[in-house]
Amino acid sequence: MKKGDLLYTGKAKSVYTTDQADRLILHFRNDTSAFDGAKLAKLDRKGEMNNRINTFIMGHLESAGIATHFIERISAVDSVVKRLDMIKVECVVRNIVAGSLSKRLGIEEGFDLDQPVFEFFLKDDALHDPFINDSHIRAFSWASDAEIDAMRTLTLQVNDILKPLFANAGILLVDFKLEFGRDGDQLALGDEFTPDGCRLWDAKTRNKLDKDRFRRDLGDVVEAYEEVARRLGVPLQD
Ligand SMILES: Nc1ncnc2c1ncn2[C@@H]1O[C@H](COP(=O)(O)OP(=O)(O)OP(=O)(O)O)[C@@H](O)[C@H]1O
Ligand SMILES: [Mg+2]
Repeated sequence: MKKGDLLYTGKAKSVYTTDQADRLILHFRNDTSAFDGAKLAKLDRKGEMNNRINTFIMGHLESAGIATHFIERISAVDSVVKRLDMIKVECVVRNIVAGSLSKRLGIEEGFDLDQPVFEFFLKDDALHDPFINDSHIRAFSWASDAEIDAMRTLTLQVNDILKPLFANAGILLVDFKLEFGRDGDQLALGDEFTPDGCRLWDAKTRNKLDKDRFRRDLGDVVEAYEEVARRLGVPLQD
């Protein structure tokens, strides 16, 4: 697989075309951002750690029957994926209250939810990824009714698959964000699943093992990602 032109530079990944029209390369950078790009840093080895964790999680989801874009990891920081027509909404599931839900509803961080909460957000940094609902998605034609249903169902399925995976590693899956895209007339899970886009707490101490360490200046960010990888059994060497 040959890396072609740079197609897109996101906040944490660069996307390249390849010699196959329906394949892209996701290049995981060390760049780390928070608050819609207002806080930036480069964290040594983060790209490599995220590429390894993403490979492991995408593989686990595929074997559990979720269609993903993931094809293969081809270097420390690059993976080949199927090119998707991305839907510009983010799908979030929460098992424990944290982050924007805590702020929005005034409920303290750490409140255990009896059932998962599902939320849509518009993927738009300039607008700070606003909270939206099905009605907005339909009204502005960001996705069809069938796609809205599929995104919700798939995201809740991913939660059912990943919660026990993390629990077996002594980690609480607090919340996570997914992005989907169109692969012909099917939806597939796109983008990434890494500690950049979810909250993971140590099950005993509730210590943070995710990007909140960066947002809140807690230090040892990549060390925490590595701890997650180690506990999950993600290979840390080739
Ligand atoms: N399979 C795919 N096909 C096409 N685009 C994809 C695919 N997977 C992910 N992407 C897009 O590639 C980009 C990855 O870069 P990154 O995650 O760094 O961007 P971001 O800064 O979070 O997002 P954005 O700039 O779009 O708000 C995102 O825009 C994502 O939606
Ligand atoms: Mg992103």
